[in-house]
Amino acid sequence: MKIVEKIKLPIQDEMEFFEVKFKASMVSKVSLLNRITHYIVRRKGKQMRPMFVFLVAKMVSNGDFKEKTYRGAAIIELIHTATLVHDDIVDDSNRRRGFFSLNALWKNKIAVLVGDFLLSKGLLLSIDNDDFDILKIISTAVREMSEGELLQIEKARRLDITEEVYFDIIRQKTATLIAACCGIGAASVDADKEDVENMKEFGQLIGIAFQIKDDLFDYTDDKIGKPTGIDIKEQKMTLPLIYSLNNCTNKEKKWLINSVKRYNKDINRVKEVISFVKKNGGIEYTVKKMKEYQKRALDILYKYPDSEYKDSLIIMVNYVIEREK
Ligand code: IPE
Ligand code: IPE
Ligand code: MG
Ligand code: MG
Repeated sequence: MKIVEKIKLPIQDEMEFFEVKFKASMVSKVSLLNRITHYIVRRKGKQMRPMFVFLVAKMVSNGDFKEKTYRGAAIIELIHTATLVHDDIVDDSNRRRGFFSLNALWKNKIAVLVGDFLLSKGLLLSIDNDDFDILKIISTAVREMSEGELLQIEKARRLDITEEVYFDIIRQKTATLIAACCGIGAASVDADKEDVENMKEFGQLIGIAFQIKDDLFDYTDDKIGKPTGIDIKEQKMTLPLIYSLNNCTNKEKKWLINSVKRYNKDINRVKEVISFVKKNGGIEYTVKKMKEYQKRALDILYKYPDSEYKDSLIIMVNYVIEREK
């Protein structure tokens, strides 16, 4: 059995029902929009965020479940999809989930508006159901994500990112939403405050490991359904490169910075930078850091009583860092 199927085993019905809700949440009277959202639904992603919502809800409540949990999952996936649509415009990336990105097919104008539409649909789903606790968690996450992406751009312009700032960026742009998944999962079944906070913390830790893994993909030639090697092209300095910058001679440092600053669109030069980072130990160091966060996330799970939901979450935490896309 595939690892993802194994994770989904205790939430199979929920995931099926979720898909129906998710699809329905996007309908519009504008046919152009319907064509585009149809395209989005057909090329679905790994759906890890709804899986987190369901598994956490069930783990903290011993299998209890509410209609609100479904809404929480649908909202999160809508917001996630909106941010990916916008992220591909920002990163000038033409592939997503193994096919063309929206900006590649319909151009930026349309993609910006589709992202806004999905964002507003997500927020309305909370408002229309008086889920104001969810709305608060989600809105905070959206604010943090935009701040994280902007902080990243600011650092890309000045090329002065430190390890500390890197962690700030990935916490904001990625981990916050995964923290929100786990917080919403718990809150949707009326878990007590301590559980909600614990689950947010758990989500944040595994969310950081998740983004580190994503940044490691960029240093490979793996077929992950989106471009690799584009972070340096976009002058995004991630942990492998930051480590190398801090652990090389002054001359090498000058060469690295100069490569990112002036030769970032030169494919061969980018390849040289990537092999320098690899030889220099940047990947090993990054993997080590990723595993530290993964372990801290696991430690939170271990405090909960045994259940099939907890088992699935443990497999999922391992999947985050071992996945192939
Ligand atoms: C991609 O997230 C964006 C990041 C935060 C790295 P996913 O890898 O979960 O994207 P999909 O939904 O599976 O395509
Ligand atoms: C994560 O950053 C994207 C968001 C948090 C929206 P990346 O730009 O690294 O994500 P990918 O690699 O394009 O999926
Ligand atoms: Mg991107
Ligand atoms: Mg990336």
